[in-house]
Amino acid sequence: MSQPLDILGGITAEQFLAEYWQKKPLLVRNALPEIVSLLEPNDVMELALEENISARLIKQKDKDPNQWAVKSSPLIKGDFQKMPKLWTLLVQAVDHYSFDLAEMWKKFSFIPQWRRDDIMVSYAQKGGSVGKHFDFYDVFLVQGYGHRRWQLGQMCDADTDYVAGQPLKLLPEIEVNFDEILAPGDLLYVPPGLAHYGVAEDDCLTYSFGFRMPNVTEMMDRISDKFSDNQLLKNPLTDVLRNQQNAIGQITQHELDYLKEKLLAQLQNSTVLDDAIMSLMSEPKYPDNVPEAEEVGTGDLEEALEQGYLLMLEPASRLLYTYEDGELLFWANGEGVGISEQFAPVLKQLADGEVVALNEALFDQDILEDIAQLLNDSVIMLMPSETDE
Ligand code: SIN
Ligand code: CO
Repeated sequence: MSQPLDILGGITAEQFLAEYWQKKPLLVRNALPEIVSLLEPNDVMELALEENISARLIKQKDKDPNQWAVKSSPLIKGDFQKMPKLWTLLVQAVDHYSFDLAEMWKKFSFIPQWRRDDIMVSYAQKGGSVGKHFDFYDVFLVQGYGHRRWQLGQMCDADTDYVAGQPLKLLPEIEVNFDEILAPGDLLYVPPGLAHYGVAEDDCLTYSFGFRMPNVTEMMDRISDKFSDNQLLKNPLTDVLRNQQNAIGQITQHELDYLKEKLLAQLQNSTVLDDAIMSLMSEPKYPDNVPEAEEVGTGDLEEALEQGYLLMLEPASRLLYTYEDGELLFWANGEGVGISEQFAPVLKQLADGEVVALNEALFDQDILEDIAQLLNDSVIMLMPSETDE
C-alpha cells in the first residue's frame, strides 16, 4: 500500500488511479507549492520569443470576444503590440527549458514516463482564456502565479460539435457543474474528454502537465514503416494451391484467407511489433529541443569522473526500456539503443528518472563508451554535482 500523497490531497496513488484517473476531476488545494516561485509572467513572455520554442498567442476581438485569432510560433515582439483586452500566451514544453520545472514531473511518478507529453505554461491577464473546450489527454492544471477560475462540465468525444469558423476547437456550451478559483499551488486534474473553461482572474500563469496516449492509427503507421524496411517482405507471395477454376472476377474466400494469413503471420512477429511501438513511444515530441551535444570521448569522461559529475536524462529526450526474457532492452528518441550488459542496470536507473553519480563503478571501457555514445546523442547529460547557487 503506498503512502498518501500531498499532490493528491492526501489520498494514495492507488486510490487516485482507481477512482479519478481517466474518470473524474480532482481539485487539490496547495498541492504543489514548490511550483509557485519557478516562473513569473515576464519569463514566459521571454521564453515565447526564443528560437525553436513552440508557442501560440491567442486573441479575442475587443468588439466581439467570440471571434478568436491564433498566431503560432515563431512569435516576434511585434506580435505583442496592439493587443486586444483578452489574450492568452501558451508556451509548450517549458520543462525542456527549466530543470526545476522538469523536476516537478517526479511528483507525478505514479504515471509512467512513456505517458508524459509535456508541461505547457499559459500566461493571461484578467479575463484571458483559451475558450470552452476539451482535450483528448489527461491533464493536471497547476496554478503557478495569480488566480484562474475553472469551470468544468460535460463529457465530450470525437463526435462532439465545435463552434464553426474559429481557429480553435471550441465548445458552444459548457454545462457547468464545478466552479472554483485556483490560487498559486492549487491543482486540478481534468480527465480526457471533460469540458473545461479557465478564465484568468488577474495576471495568471497556469501549468498543464499533459499525458499523451497513442492512437491505433499512429501505431499502425509506425508498424507499416518498420515492415516496409524489410526487403524480404518485398518478394511476392507464392500462389495458393490451384486445383480448380473459379470465375475470373472473384477472389475466393480461400484466397482471401490465404492473403490475410500471410499478413497476420508477419504481425505475430513480436520483435518488429515491439520495436515499432517502443520506437514510437520513445519519440520526443519536440525533437528540435534535444540539444546538439558537444562531442565527448571516453578520456573526457575519466576527467569528469575525477571532478564528480552526475549523469541524468536530458529533459527533452525520451529513454524507455522493456524486458524481453529477463533482458533489459532500451529505446531512446525513436530508436533502439544497443549497450553493454554491464551498463544496462545503470541506464535503467537513468530511464527511471534517477540521477547517477559518475563513479568508480562505471570505470570500465565498455561502460564509458556507452555513456559517451548516449551523451553524444543527447539522450543523457552531465551535470556538475555541486551547482553554484
Ligand atoms: C490554459 O492554461 O489556459 C489552458 C490549459 C487547458 O485548458 O488545457
Ligand atoms: Co484544456
